Amino acid sequence: MTQTAPWWHAATAYQIYPRSFCDSDGDGIGDIPGIISRLDHLADLGIGFVWLSPVYRSPMADNGYDISDYRDIAPEFGTLADMDRLIAEAKSRGIGIVMDLVVNHSSDEHHWFQEARRSRDNPYRDYYVWRDPAPNGGAPNDLQSNFGGPAWSYDERTGQYYLHLFDRRQPDLNWQNPELRRAIYEMMNWWLDRGVAGFRMDVIDLIGKDPDASITADGPDLHPFLREMHDATLKGRDVVTVGEAWSATTEGALLYSGRDAGELSMVFQFAHIVQGWDEVHGKWKPKPFDLVGLKQVLAEWQLALADDGWNSLFWSNHDLPRAVSKYGDDGRFRVVSAKMLATVLHMMKGTPYIYQGEEIGMTNIAFTDISQFRDIETLNFHKIQTAAGVTPGDFLAGANSNGRDNARTPMQWTDGPQAGFTSGEPWIEVNPNHREINVAADRARPDGIFAHYCELARLRRELAVMREGSFTPYLQDHPKVMAYVRQHEDARIAVLANFTGEVVTVDVPRGLAISGRAISANYPGRDALDGTAELRPFEAVAILEG
Ligand code: GLC
Repeated sequence: MTQTAPWWHAATAYQIYPRSFCDSDGDGIGDIPGIISRLDHLADLGIGFVWLSPVYRSPMADNGYDISDYRDIAPEFGTLADMDRLIAEAKSRGIGIVMDLVVNHSSDEHHWFQEARRSRDNPYRDYYVWRDPAPNGGAPNDLQSNFGGPAWSYDERTGQYYLHLFDRRQPDLNWQNPELRRAIYEMMNWWLDRGVAGFRMDVIDLIGKDPDASITADGPDLHPFLREMHDATLKGRDVVTVGEAWSATTEGALLYSGRDAGELSMVFQFAHIVQGWDEVHGKWKPKPFDLVGLKQVLAEWQLALADDGWNSLFWSNHDLPRAVSKYGDDGRFRVVSAKMLATVLHMMKGTPYIYQGEEIGMTNIAFTDISQFRDIETLNFHKIQTAAGVTPGDFLAGANSNGRDNARTPMQWTDGPQAGFTSGEPWIEVNPNHREINVAADRARPDGIFAHYCELARLRRELAVMREGSFTPYLQDHPKVMAYVRQHEDARIAVLANFTGEVVTVDVPRGLAISGRAISANYPGRDALDGTAELRPFEAVAILEG
């Protein structure tokens, strides 16, 4: 018997970063009523589910990735009643709301942590990871925080250190404690019973950690915990779960997302992103774009998950720069290159994620002074790196190229004041290019980027070959073009894309040759590939045979 494919194989996802999406009350911060007012935009786009970045109560040290109450909504974002309305209004448009589950750590203002730090014998003490100082009084070991500096902070009152793999205001939860795990599962069920369509799981690869052995990602208890979580919450429910896993390998991805693994629906991994980072300085030092390296990683993942497991497809999210600035051309060829990126990504196997603003080709913002940045990671690294001798100019170059605030400037709805995002003062500057780049202008064009994305979402719902087809890469060593074929039963799609602003002439390999109908293209007039193809700047075409 063939299993029917799950609904999310046919879905296109959309990520909302609530703080920057739409502000309904003029306080300069996006909110849930603002999201509700824009649901038709997402319905028009053909979205199947929204990954909603955290809206829970939070002191906002990391814009909500530091939760102080998992069962309430941050007042700046709205109320639980607003949330229920969002779930219902989205559902009536065929859109599921996927909550961001941030349970590797909580906020230091969560009552669990407030209790835990009162005394060593407090009942909540063991909900967190506490260790005695090293013999010299220093941190228990050298573990470093992902946001820079030691991963241990000393707590005066009880004379021990607590672990935080992110900021000191984000203490790590102790997953070794069965009571803590039960409390998390209960909370998940509480949200599922409210009607959410699933969870995106923040840095989920860290929960099985063994800090004493300096093991953070992929710890020995990771997969047992996920299976236990599945049994306690997800089993028997038709929901979608997405695990953020920076450390995932192709083999690991099968453990998370294998059909019968009993863990998650899919992984959200970053191999294609980090291949573009500097080996020593990571994302803080820009590195020239290397298409061959990028294609190699993409193909490796497509092939590894060909028969089992499921991947997320994305260029960008709230932690990454804007897709068109990073992989395309955000100047002269902005529109065609944004469409090219959409075509090559969405034609692959997996569930595609559109990050808010990508559907109109929003770009990075070039800040000129550190005071314009808001992101805790950028500000922490600024301190560390400038103290270590990096010049302010070099730091700015890195932050402007890869910093997280690029993705967090407000959604550009109109060419009006503050891009129609707020009637007040936005919490972070609006990109001045909203005068040309905005939803109203792009949607008014039949050949806009939005229209291109709508088409891709529609094709995914319609074409089994796009969802389930095999993947065969071509021209892997070509430094300027990307090419592949998808095949399912009798249906075949060939994709060819030029990643440069120059005309590129390609000898079409035999396996790529095709004639039929262009189903996704950013220039008119190509419905076959054969012999040689002269690709226009950033041209991309997907041709369905027949
Ligand atoms: C994830 C989130 C990021 C957050 C971090 C800590 O990587 O995507 O925004 O800062 O986890 O929660």
